[in-house]
Amino acid sequence: MGLAVGLFAEEAAYCGIPSDFTYGDAASGIVDTPHNLGSTGGTISNDETDVCIFCHTPHHGGSGMPLWNRQSTAASFKAYGTTLAGTYVADNGVGAASLACLSCHDGVTSFDTLVNAPGKGGGTPVDMGWTFTIDGNTVSDVLTSVTAVIGTDLRNDHPVSIPYKEKVASLRARNTVISTIEMTAGTLTASLGSDASSTTATSNRWSVKGFISSDATIDDILRDGKVECSSCHDPHFKNTSWDEVDSTWGGPTEVTGLFLRRVGGNSVSGVCRTCHNK
Ligand code: HEC
Ligand code: HEC
Ligand code: HEC
Ligand code: HEC
Repeated sequence: MGLAVGLFAEEAAYCGIPSDFTYGDAASGIVDTPHNLGSTGGTISNDETDVCIFCHTPHHGGSGMPLWNRQSTAASFKAYGTTLAGTYVADNGVGAASLACLSCHDGVTSFDTLVNAPGKGGGTPVDMGWTFTIDGNTVSDVLTSVTAVIGTDLRNDHPVSIPYKEKVASLRARNTVISTIEMTAGTLTASLGSDASSTTATSNRWSVKGFISSDATIDDILRDGKVECSSCHDPHFKNTSWDEVDSTWGGPTEVTGLFLRRVGGNSVSGVCRTCHNK
């Protein structure tokens, strides 16, 4: 009885049971996450219902990313620098795939400076002058929450725009098929806690190219041969499979699993151990 009540209370905290996404499922759900900045996401002050517009446009797009509708961040970044193995990322070496995320997560650039405005836009970046309410706080149009702001100093973050070399940092071969990587060999599987009831800890399923993929390799999550924000995160994937994070994340009520690509999020450090054979 005590156990049953405990389990119930834990589940009630995130209002739902973690989903166990399976191969072939679309990595969808952005409309019900904080990445829906439009009125149907509940953050914007007006009735702009478009979802994709904050990042993409069908025409007159900007450069760097697919059909990109965002002004590039104007911030200058401090990159990670030199790793123990001697791999170096220069300050001006932060690549387009990470700058795309940092064009909101730098805490400097506004959400609503769009390259192509809704309707008849023109391809010249314009600040739409919209305001947003995130987590009950009116934040105008820049990110303020401490956890969500990665900032402009990337020295305290996992290296991004870093080339994926083999034979350093216990990195697996680039052609390793992600789904074949064994996650729980040698662990006390009896201690998996709430993960034990699902296969989110024991198997290694990732969202790649918009689907939970059985045959994607590590190469497929690299961008231009490098690790970028989007190697670990899929900004469209409402990943409701990581129960661990839901009770600790002080952010919005939507459960996103922090947009991690891995089903089960970083349970058993599965995100880290997919690349690092530690
Ligand atoms: C918060 C920003 C953001 C929003 C909002 C967003 N996207 Fe994306 N999208 C990206 C980024 C960044 C990439 C490149 C990701 C990568 O490298 O994997 C991307 C890539 C894509 C791709 C190609 C890769 C893939 O995963 O399939 C498609 C298709 C796509 N987006 C469609 C959409 C549609 C449709 C919407 C609206 C329903 C949308 N996106 C909303 C940021 C966003
Ligand atoms: C158009 C602006 C925008 C872009 C571009 C953007 N984000 Fe976000 N992101 C947000 C907002 C707004 C939130 C909610 C922040 C908050 O709750 O304070 C958020 C939240 C998140 C969260 C926390 C999820 C949660 O449960 O609250 C993660 C992780 C994240 N973003 C990663 C990314 C990554 C990785 C990229 C690039 C692939 C990206 N974002 C691009 C606006 C953006
Ligand atoms: C090597 C994998 C990896 C890369 C690369 C990566 N992240 Fe993350 N990110 C994670 C993991 C794992 C978590 C959840 C752990 C945690 O809470 O810190 C996370 C959490 C977050 C969060 C939630 C805040 C937090 O710390 O809990 C945000 C926002 C975020 N990432 C944005 C980004 C952005 C923007 C980039 C690129 C500059 C990026 N991430 C690159 C793995 C990564
Ligand atoms: C997409 C592949 C990938 C994932 C996922 C990944 N890493 Fe890495 N990691 C790398 C690469 C590439 C390097 C750079 C290795 C080098 O050349 O020194 C690196 C470097 C590191 C370093 C060494 C930095 C230094 O200064 O030497 C640490 C520590 C690390 N990662 C921890 C983690 C942790 C913890 C996670 C999970 C949250 C993680 N990694 C997930 C690819 C990855």
